[in-house]
Amino acid sequence: MNNTEHIINMGKENVMNTYGRLPMALVRGVGTRVWDSEGRSYLDFVTGLAVTSLGHSHPEIVETIRKQASEILHTSNLYWIPNQVRLAEMLTANSFADKVFFCNSGAEANEGAIKLVRKYAKKHYGKDKHKIVSLKNSFHGRTLGALSATGQLKYHQGFEPLPTGFSHIEAGNLSELKEAVDQNTAAVIIEPIQGEGGVHPIPKEFLLSTKEICEKHGALLVFDEVQCGVGRTGKLFAYEWLDVVPDIMTLAKALGNGVPIGAVLASAKVAESFQPGDHASTFGGNHLVTAVGCKVMEIMTGEGFLADVEYKSSYFKNKLQELAKKYKLDGTVRGLGFMLGLPVQEKGPEIVQYCSDRGLLINCVGSTTLRFLPPLTVSMSELDEALVILEQAFSEKF
Ligand SMILES: Cc1ncc(COP(=O)(O)O)c(C=O)c1O
Repeated sequence: MNNTEHIINMGKENVMNTYGRLPMALVRGVGTRVWDSEGRSYLDFVTGLAVTSLGHSHPEIVETIRKQASEILHTSNLYWIPNQVRLAEMLTANSFADKVFFCNSGAEANEGAIKLVRKYAKKHYGKDKHKIVSLKNSFHGRTLGALSATGQLKYHQGFEPLPTGFSHIEAGNLSELKEAVDQNTAAVIIEPIQGEGGVHPIPKEFLLSTKEICEKHGALLVFDEVQCGVGRTGKLFAYEWLDVVPDIMTLAKALGNGVPIGAVLASAKVAESFQPGDHASTFGGNHLVTAVGCKVMEIMTGEGFLADVEYKSSYFKNKLQELAKKYKLDGTVRGLGFMLGLPVQEKGPEIVQYCSDRGLLINCVGSTTLRFLPPLTVSMSELDEALVILEQAFSEKF
């Protein structure tokens, strides 16, 4: 039995069976490259699902963690946490928001947002204003509130009864939107680009109408930027591509580049609905994760970083599109920046396996869409290397 087989056997015996996993274990990473427990190397275009956006073992992140670990890792939110304050300031200075609440994950950020919109609605409009509208095909996380907002019934099954007051409408369907949002609606929650649903950008005009309808009914607009936020699209936040500013935005994933962090950002008027005792999280915004968050923000807001992401990602998107045309994949590349999806009929899993065997990690959403989430720090030559493997895959499979 080799090392990997041993890990897999032990895992099957001891870890709950909640993930469909590939039979490999990744044990080391530098930049875009990762190594498995047999010493094979891969280009990582999965990045832990849009988490390690600065690549693996980024020297400044490593140094930040080392330094912070030697000073202090955690104290309670009973006391002020300087790094948390600094990260909140960096996030508010670079976004629409005035205030931030920190937690540990995307689902937890969305739970926080759901509680905040309900508290705000009750405070300003009375007890009946509680309904939350979100989109079909959306994904907002696995905890019960976030799951209720998630517009994919397959994730609900087996966990009912779920919290009530949630409904789901078709993205782009204005009449469904008008029907769903009324005076009892507390909020509409949207991922500006649906990630787990297959990399679907929500049409700008629909988002504009949503904002208008929310304003008309005193409902808040929440953008879930857990996957598309923090540099992924070539702007710090995906909403910057739109003419729509939300009232609340949730973040996680790339904000910690691998240390677990989540954040709820809100305007001052909305945020003040939370008072001491309303919401909390033991680990939320501790010294370690916020030290890393500050470093991530410092790097991403540095001169030329996001322009470079835009340049490299549009090169990659164009090349992918050319390949799709050449091998008659009959679909267009969807998405923005380095959050890209390519429809491949039902051949997703086969192509993922083919690429993995040749040293490129990608994943597919459903079996029909390949998803590309390379680190934002990927080099042009690594992009070309990936394109060569993808071309081999397409020429063989189509
Ligand atoms: C848009 C979006 N929201 C929420 C989540 C849930 O985040 P987490 O897995 O950190 O709870 C995800 C995870 O993929 C996501 O893509």
